[in-house]
Amino acid sequence: MNPEELVQQALVARTRAYAPYSNYFVGAAVWADDGDVILGCNVENAAYPSTICAERVALTAAVAQGKRQFRAIAVATRNGGSPCGACRQVMWELGPEMVVYIADESGLYRTTTVRELLPDGFHKARLLE
Ligand code: THU
Repeated sequence: MNPEELVQQALVARTRAYAPYSNYFVGAAVWADDGDVILGCNVENAAYPSTICAERVALTAAVAQGKRQFRAIAVATRNGGSPCGACRQVMWELGPEMVVYIADESGLYRTTTVRELLPDGFHKARLLE
């Protein structure tokens, strides 16, 4: 799995997006430590706040499949939009060392990290102090 392949998987996931309200289709592909790739897409809802983002679908599905360690995530939108704050916090929780590839619909992407996207995120250790 290389970055280009992960981005291609995010583009595949994007074709499955359910976004009849915003028409903003998002796909995500998370690369787990064991080599598996788990896909997610945004799933909207007529009760708008019930919508869930592609990144959180991918990461929560991966956890449900028993994955705990992640190397990278690719996110694809029509124009290279970057992950929302809630998704950044979930990335921080589940894959703080992940590399993040942010792609547009043509597959062009930029590379960043969870730590760069969310400096000083809320850390679980705080709950134990
Ligand atoms: N969306 C995502 O899937 N990921 C993000 O990080 C930002 C926003 C979705 C949610 C909604 O379905 C649509 O994009 C417009 O906000």
